[in-house]
Amino acid sequence: MVIKFGSFSELEKDIRYVRDRVFVAEQGWSAGEVYDAADSSCIQLVAYRDETPVGVARCVFDEDWHIGRVGVLKEFRGLHIGVEIMRAMIEHISALGGGEILLHSQLERQGFYEALGFSVCGETYLQGKIEHVPMRYNIVCQNDKITIRKMEDCTADYSLMSNWLSNPVILEYYGGRDNPINLQKAIEKYRPRICGDSYVIPCIIEYDKTAVGYIQYYKEDVEPLVRESLGGREYQNPYGLDLFIGELDYWNKGVGTAVVKLIVDYLLQNSIADIIFIDPQTWNKRAIRCYEKCGFKPIAVLEKRELHEGEYKDNLIMAVTAVS
Ligand SMILES: CC(C)(COP(=O)(O)OP(=O)(O)OC[C@H]1O[C@@H](n2cnc3c(N)ncnc32)[C@H](O)[C@@H]1OP(=O)(O)O)[C@@H](O)C(=O)NCCC(=O)NCCS
Repeated sequence: MVIKFGSFSELEKDIRYVRDRVFVAEQGWSAGEVYDAADSSCIQLVAYRDETPVGVARCVFDEDWHIGRVGVLKEFRGLHIGVEIMRAMIEHISALGGGEILLHSQLERQGFYEALGFSVCGETYLQGKIEHVPMRYNIVCQNDKITIRKMEDCTADYSLMSNWLSNPVILEYYGGRDNPINLQKAIEKYRPRICGDSYVIPCIIEYDKTAVGYIQYYKEDVEPLVRESLGGREYQNPYGLDLFIGELDYWNKGVGTAVVKLIVDYLLQNSIADIIFIDPQTWNKRAIRCYEKCGFKPIAVLEKRELHEGEYKDNLIMAVTAVS
C-alpha cells in the first residue's frame, strides 16, 4: 500500500473518489457536510492499492491535533488499511512535533480507535443521526515491550495509583511511608494533572500490556544552584522526570532502565526537551544506578531539599542532554 500526504488541492480527485463513496453514498451525509472550509488548511492523506485510492484521512493543528474524515472503501475493509492509515497519520503528527491528538469517533468505531491507543475523553453526542464520542490518543511513546501512556481520568487508573502508593515497600522510596495514598487522595492529587490543570503530565507504564508503574514528566525551571553547576549554560526546554515501578516483581529486571531510556529518547529526539533532570535522594542507590545507565550525569547535590518520612533528605541532581 502507498500512502501520500498532501494538500486538498493536490489530492482532491482521489479524496473525492473515496469520501463520495464512503460518506455520501454509503453513510448518507450531504456533500456540504463532507467537504468543508477546513479541508484547505488540513494535511490530507490518501492510501492507494495498485494506484486506486482506497482510504483517506485528514488532520489539522488547532491548539491540539485533530484527525477526521477517516474512511476506507467498503470493499477494502478488514485488510488493516484503516489501521495503517491511522498509524501513518500518528507518525506524521509525531514527526511534526507531536502533541495531543483528538478525534470524534462514530460510536460504532470506538473499538477500532481504542485498539490504536485512543480513549474516550467526553460524553457521547449526536451528529446528524450518528452517535459520536470524543477520543484522545494517549500513548506518549512505546517500543516492543513498553508503552508509556497518559493516565486517564478513570477509577481503574486511580486505583492503580492507590494500590501502589499504599504499599510501604514502594512508599519507602517514593512519597514516604507516612504518606500513603488511598483512592480519594489519588483522585485529588492526580485529576488536576490529568485534566491539564497542572504542568505535570502523568503517565502509566505498561510492560507487555500490564500496568507496572507510573512516570510523570514536566517542563521545569532550572534551579539557580543547578544552573551554576551547569556552567551557566542556558537551556530553552528543561524537563524533569519522576517515576516508580509499582509492581515489585518488576524491580531490578531492567524495566526501569528501559522505561527511562524510552522517554528520554522521546523527549530529546523530538526536541521537546533539550535537557532532562532527575533528582533521586542520595541514598537511593538503585535509582541512581538506573539513571546512570540511561546516560544521566551527576550535576549537583542539593542538601536537605526533600521532606521524606519526617526528615529533610539530600537530592542528587542528574541530567542528560542530546549530546551528553
Ligand atoms: C528506581 C527504579 C525506577 C529502577 O527501576 P528498576 O527496573 O528496578 O531498575 P533496573 O533493573 O533497570 O536497574 C537497577 C540497577 O540498580 C542496581 N541496584 C539495585 N539495587 C542497588 C543498590 N542497593 N545499590 C546499587 N545498585 C543497585 C541493579 O543491579 C541495576 O544495575 P545493573 O544493571 O548495573 O546491575 C525502581 O526500582 C523503583 O521504582 N524503585 C522504587 C521507587 C523509586 O526509587 N523511584 C525513583 C525515585 S527518584
